[in-house]
This record gives sequence, C-alpha cells and structure tokens, in this order.
Amino acid sequence: DDFVIRVQRDVVDSYDEELELELEDRPFDAEGKEVPLSAIEKNERRRYFRELLRLQGELVKLQDWVVASGHKLVILFEGRDAAGKGGVIKRITQRLNPRACRVAALPAPNDRERTQWYFQRFVAHLPAAGEIVLFDRSWYNRAGVERVMGFCTDEQYDEFFRSVPEFEKMLTRSGIQLVKYWFSISDEEQHLRFLSRIHDPLKQWKLSPMDLESRRLWEDYTRAKEVMLARTHIPEAPWWVVQADHKKKARLNCIHHLLSQVPYQEVPHTQVVMPERVRHEDYSRRPV
Ligand code: ADP
Ligand code: AMP
Ligand code: MLT
Repeated sequence: DDFVIRVQRDVVDSYDEELELELEDRPFDAEGKEVPLSAIEKNERRRYFRELLRLQGELVKLQDWVVASGHKLVILFEGRDAAGKGGVIKRITQRLNPRACRVAALPAPNDRERTQWYFQRFVAHLPAAGEIVLFDRSWYNRAGVERVMGFCTDEQYDEFFRSVPEFEKMLTRSGIQLVKYWFSISDEEQHLRFLSRIHDPLKQWKLSPMDLESRRLWEDYTRAKEVMLARTHIPEAPWWVVQADHKKKARLNCIHHLLSQVPYQEVPHTQVVMPERVRHEDYSRRPV
C-alpha cells in the first residue's frame, strides 16, 4: 500500500544521497576524462551502498548509546593530503544528530592562538558527556605539516612529543575515549587524486598550495609520519592504520573498526505513537 511505497522511496532516497556524495569521487584518467564504470564495478558499488547503510544504522545505535550512557568519544583522523579523511568523516556524520556528533576541522592557528599553550585551542572542542567529536586533522599537525613545512621550531617539535602522551593520558583518565586513525595512501594514488582535483571544478577548492608542496616533499612526510606513529602509539590511545588507496573499502573498514572499539549496546526505546491532532473547531474551518 501507500505506506510501503513511501518507505521504499525513502530507502531509494538514502541511496541517492550517497550517490550524490559518490559523484565527488567519480574516477578520472590521467588526461582528466571520466572513466565509465564496468558491470563489475556497478555491482561492487551496489554492495558498497548496502554495507554502508547497514554500518550507518549501527552508528545510529552507537550514537544512541553514547547519549544514553554519557560516554565521551573523540575520533581523530590523520593522513596525507587527499587520503580520504574528509570522505569517511562525511559518511560517519551523514545520518547522525549534529548535536550529538560534530566535526572539528581547525584552520591554521591565528596570531593569538600561536601564543597559547599548543593544545589549548583543541581542548575547547573536546566532548561533554553524550558527545562524539571527530577531528579532521588534530594536534598532530605539529608532528606533520608544521614539522615538514617549518611552521614550528625544533624545540616546539620536541616539546610536542614530550607532551602528547601525557596530554592523551589525561584525556583518557578524564573519561574520554580516544580513537586515532592514520589514513595511508601510496605515492601513485595521491598523484592520481591530485590530478583529478586539478581537473574537476567541484574539487579544486580542496587543492591548497600546501597540498602541492606536500607532493614535492613526499619523503619528508614519510619520515615525519614514521616518527609520529612510533612516538605517540600508547596503550591508552593506539594508532590504527587504514589502508586508504581504495576509498570505499577504506570507509567501510574504518567505520566497521570504529564500531568494534565502542562498547555500545542497543538502547531500548518505547514504541513511538503518533499523537492525534488537537481539533480547534474555529481554526479548522478557516482555509489555509
Ligand atoms: P587541508 O589539507 O586540511 O584542506 P591545507 O592543505 O591548506 O588544508 O593545510 C594543511 C594543514 O596545515 C591544515 O591543518 C592547516 O591548519 C595547517 N597549516 C597551514 N598553514 C599553517 C601555518 N602557517 N601554521 C600552522 N599550521 C598550518
Ligand atoms: P603513508 O600514507 O605515509 O602510510 O604512505 C604509505 C606509502 O608509502 C606506501 O606506498 C608505503 O609502501 C610507502 N612507504 C611507507 N614508508 C616508507 C619508507 N620508509 N620508504 C619508502 N616508502 C615508504
Ligand atoms: C582528505 O581527502 O584526506 C581530506 O579531504 C584532506 C585533503 O583535502 O587533502
């Protein structure tokens, strides 16, 4: 009946929403021409949608549990430029309540912030009970872009490594769960993604001068990453590396893994009953 058709339409609508997001990821060849999908790829895409929607359903349960139990959750995403951090963050937040789950993507520090304790501006974004905060890049900028591009001194860099384990232990002792992801992409894949950003008017905004410089300094970033992962991998907050050359697999893997890290349970809800409309006789006679 009408109701079933309506529900089916809503499901199709959810698929379309994801498809719209997917359009951002349409593949380009080296000349910048769009590559059409094969039958196998179309089938893979269908499987991807189905699994993504299932995982997003689980994320809703996770969110319910976080809110009900007063859990505090921080998930931070690091990785080279174009590794796909933004894409997975979009899929995680897509069907969640922005009051319960929000993204912190801080810009470069301003002159005032530069004079503060390094962690100060990040602390302002930490969650209260019942909140999830996703950091799209984080305090680890100091060990990555700031180190490689020379935005911090050697002293600041050394002090960062002395502080960060203490800082993160304080967070976890205060009841915050901290989950850290490194999105790993190969040299070739980053090259291709930058090419498609150059060719696609919808993606050009993503390409900053910083990104182009990071291509040139690939080796320096590799070294910085190795030092960072080695020195900040602590039991209280270990790093999880997501193989990210395949975007869709990376998203599903990352969300699947995240679900495994949070001890959520389904929160029982009482059956919702649609309320009857109050009838005001005068009011209902008036045409709208
Ligand atoms: P994104 O890749 O996040 O879109 P960019 O490539 O422009 O942004 O910059 C990469 C990172 O470098 C950002 O997190 C930004 O805050 C940081 N950054 C850029 N300039 C500076 C600076 N002068 N000092 C410190 N950090 C900076
Ligand atoms: P990343 O995003 O930094 O994890 O980069 C992963 C890519 O860099 C993979 O292709 C790795 O094989 C390569 N890689 C990682 N470490 C090194 C290294 N020390 N020397 C050369 N290549 C590396
Ligand atoms: C990513 O794809 O990893 C993020 O969008 C960062 C970037 O723009 O490079």
